[in-house]
Amino acid sequence: MYNVRTEHERKTVRMIFYPSLLTKQFGNAESQQTLLFKVPKMDHHPEHKDAPEQALADILAAKDLIELFLKMGKAQELNLASLRDRPNTLFEINGISLEGKLIAHLVDEARRGQGYAYAPYSHFNVGAAILAANRAGEQKVFSGCNVENAAYGSTICAERTATFKAVSEGFRKFHAYAVVGGFDQHVSKALRTNTQKSYITPCGSCRQVMNEFEASPCAVIMAKGTGEIYMTTLNYLLPSGFGPRALGVDAADYDGGYANQLAQKK
Ligand code: THU
Repeated sequence: MYNVRTEHERKTVRMIFYPSLLTKQFGNAESQQTLLFKVPKMDHHPEHKDAPEQALADILAAKDLIELFLKMGKAQELNLASLRDRPNTLFEINGISLEGKLIAHLVDEARRGQGYAYAPYSHFNVGAAILAANRAGEQKVFSGCNVENAAYGSTICAERTATFKAVSEGFRKFHAYAVVGGFDQHVSKALRTNTQKSYITPCGSCRQVMNEFEASPCAVIMAKGTGEIYMTTLNYLLPSGFGPRALGVDAADYDGGYANQLAQKK
């Protein structure tokens, strides 16, 4: 019998007992506040020594949040309402800064896309929105929804719908994505309310497809139905991803020549 311990377990334990590590890792004042509020300062709590139940309760309270951070890498939690109040504030994450109004706009557009979700089989409605640039440097937001199919495997996710909409219009450099999701009216209220409380994370196939067109870094914004926003970058969702650069290709610059022919004909 081998004793197998995952990196995840080790990190969880270490981080719980050294919240200062978390503070160091998760940068700015806002995320620190969230963390310090939610993660009890275990190393400064002498009462934990005499009250193991309290220590356990504190660990459990911190566990969910820490797991979220471990799963998604560096990230910060924001709130849609407070973002709308700070439209011009820059929110920085892993080397990319987005204005509050852009984050809110992307979430709004993802929600608009969600409204068109075609999900009569899973009843899970997903919406996505991408801020993308074309070769002329113009920027545009593209939204998308999941489009299911009676042959279930032919279903496409919202993130890929938005991606293909953008790429098919010549917008191949992606700066930021927003993703929202939740069950429709056909499922029980309990299930619907429950999923509203969690973030929808892009599936593995979508991460790979998004990676093809990412401007490095590319922000990924996930919003709960309740308004909390979780922001990270694609390189944390897909570390060491295999992308066009591995094959010496620049996705944003690729030109098969047909666009020029069209331009000449005009
Ligand atoms: N789905 C998305 O659109 N994006 C994701 O990132 C996860 C899953 C869709 C696919 C399917 O229509 C439904 O959600 C349930 O899997």
